[in-house]
Amino acid sequence: MRLEGKIAIITGAGSGMGRAIAKRYAAEGAKVVVADINQAAAAAVAAEIGGDGGEATAFQVDVRNQEQVKAMVAAAVARFGGLDILVTNAGVGRIVPFLDTTEADWDYMFDINCKGLLWCSQAAAAQMIDQGRGGKIVNIASQAGRRGEALVLAYCASKACVISMTQSMALALAPHKINVNGIAPGVVDTPFWEQVDQQFAKLTGLEPGEPKRRAVASIPLGRIEQPDDVAGAAVFLASSESDYITQQTINVDGGNWPG
Ligand SMILES: NC(=O)c1ccc[n+]([C@@H]2O[C@H](COP(=O)([O-])OP(=O)(O)OC[C@H]3O[C@@H](n4cnc5c(N)ncnc54)[C@H](O)[C@@H]3O)[C@@H](O)[C@H]2O)c1
Repeated sequence: MRLEGKIAIITGAGSGMGRAIAKRYAAEGAKVVVADINQAAAAAVAAEIGGDGGEATAFQVDVRNQEQVKAMVAAAVARFGGLDILVTNAGVGRIVPFLDTTEADWDYMFDINCKGLLWCSQAAAAQMIDQGRGGKIVNIASQAGRRGEALVLAYCASKACVISMTQSMALALAPHKINVNGIAPGVVDTPFWEQVDQQFAKLTGLEPGEPKRRAVASIPLGRIEQPDDVAGAAVFLASSESDYITQQTINVDGGNWPG
């Protein structure tokens, strides 16, 4: 098992990719804090992990709230005795044309996707530095952070911000042997893309389901990404196998983006 004895927090772990990563980490021997704004969803995932013989606890957190985030890290330490891995996966997206983007849209996406990521990483890094045994931070970015889209300005910008924050945090934390890397997924089969599909359909006049079908049709590997497709990279970036990798954002997108 590649994460035996490690203690991990995964934000947004009540659904989609966060859930898949939490379950895989537990299967690899980690003790997992399933953190989500949706308490019932977090509790259900923690129970699933327990049912599979793993160790997990649920924690309700709004990543925008610094006090709640500090309490989340304190809960990991109180329950499991420390913190080795943070996955900043909680994120949201809205499809809004450039000219219609409001301050509320901008703040919603940047507050959760970027400011929340900052608070979580700061609190986790402070704990890891105190412990003095290094650590791993894995940020979930997106292929949306690699290029712009006319209908997706704020979300694309927020994910480009995640890629940039990954670089700065990696440099800041390298002296403490804390690796900071990112994963940029593509079109992933989660509740997130169901909403994206509906919003795209409304804006473009396409039938619901058609935006998703077209997005999937352009993926070189020829199928939609499953939440579990990111779990392997997430384990690798949390394990000792990636000790000499930092500042990188790895595309896990079926070949959608070449860079
Ligand atoms: N689905 C995709 O195609 C796709 C592609 C690339 C990147 N991503 C990114 O991957 C991450 C996970 O997305 P997903 O598709 O699994 O989405 P999802 O909607 O299935 O899950 C997101 C989870 O985050 C939680 N959350 C939302 N706001 C929160 C907050 N303020 N504090 C704590 N938790 C909060 C939600 O309750 C939910 O459980 C996001 O950062 C998303 O931007 C998604």
